[in-house]
Amino acid sequence: MKIAFVGHGNVGAPLADHLQRLGHRVTLAAKDAGSPSVKKALARNANLKVEAPREAVGAAEIVFLATPFQANEEALKGVAEELAGKALVDCTNPVGPGLRHGLESVQSGSERVQSLVPAARVVKAFSIYGFENFENSLYPGYDVKPAMMFCGNDAAAKKAVGELIAQLGWEPLDVGGLEQALHLEHMTLLWVRMVRMGGSSPHVVWAALRR
Ligand SMILES: NC(=O)c1ccc[n+]([C@@H]2O[C@H](COP(=O)([O-])OP(=O)(O)OC[C@H]3O[C@@H](n4cnc5c(N)ncnc54)[C@H](OP(=O)(O)O)[C@@H]3O)[C@@H](O)[C@H]2O)c1
Repeated sequence: MKIAFVGHGNVGAPLADHLQRLGHRVTLAAKDAGSPSVKKALARNANLKVEAPREAVGAAEIVFLATPFQANEEALKGVAEELAGKALVDCTNPVGPGLRHGLESVQSGSERVQSLVPAARVVKAFSIYGFENFENSLYPGYDVKPAMMFCGNDAAAKKAVGELIAQLGWEPLDVGGLEQALHLEHMTLLWVRMVRMGGSSPHVVWAALRR
């Protein structure tokens, strides 16, 4: 698949790296091809492509958004047309002061993203755990895969994103429509509070058990 990354820092760079190594054509959408985050991403994987945002997003089949939440509007402004009809994987989280929901739980961040680019097919994924788990998604010693919960309104976009999730070593756990994004964002806050404040291991993730 042709995949573009808008934002390639802690979250975007390892995901871009692993997806390229799985055989996808992965492009960093970069306003400044010489920025520190581009250089760092290329240092870990020199086979990543770098293109201007409109070019990268225009050529992609799936686009990842991995920017600071407050930068989303600016980051998406120039590529709204190119995103029309495409799956947009929203990895971003609105985190407010005191590790509360950044939109006061009135609206999810992903619904806000969807409102910025109405013609894109937003799927929230890769958002509920810290980046350490995107660097390395192996959890040896278990016979279940770690769960990656994701949600969105478009079935085809979710199918495509679910396949990427599985290729990256996770169990794709479709939790429903984009209205579920708010609840995933609260799961993020739970994880962040446990780990970044509470001292739990950053390598803790959840799995789905069924009977
Ligand atoms: N960190 C985590 O553990 C984690 C886990 C899950 C989800 N998230 C969420 O994922 C998102 C990214 O987090 P991160 O830790 O990866 O952040 P980060 O390391 O700071 O990386 C942010 C990326 O966004 C780019 N960027 C910033 N402003 C931009 C703009 N206006 N237009 C285009 N690109 C812009 C940066 O490029 P430059 O460096 O060139 O400015 C950089 O590539 C956040 O919304 C966060 O809540 C984070």
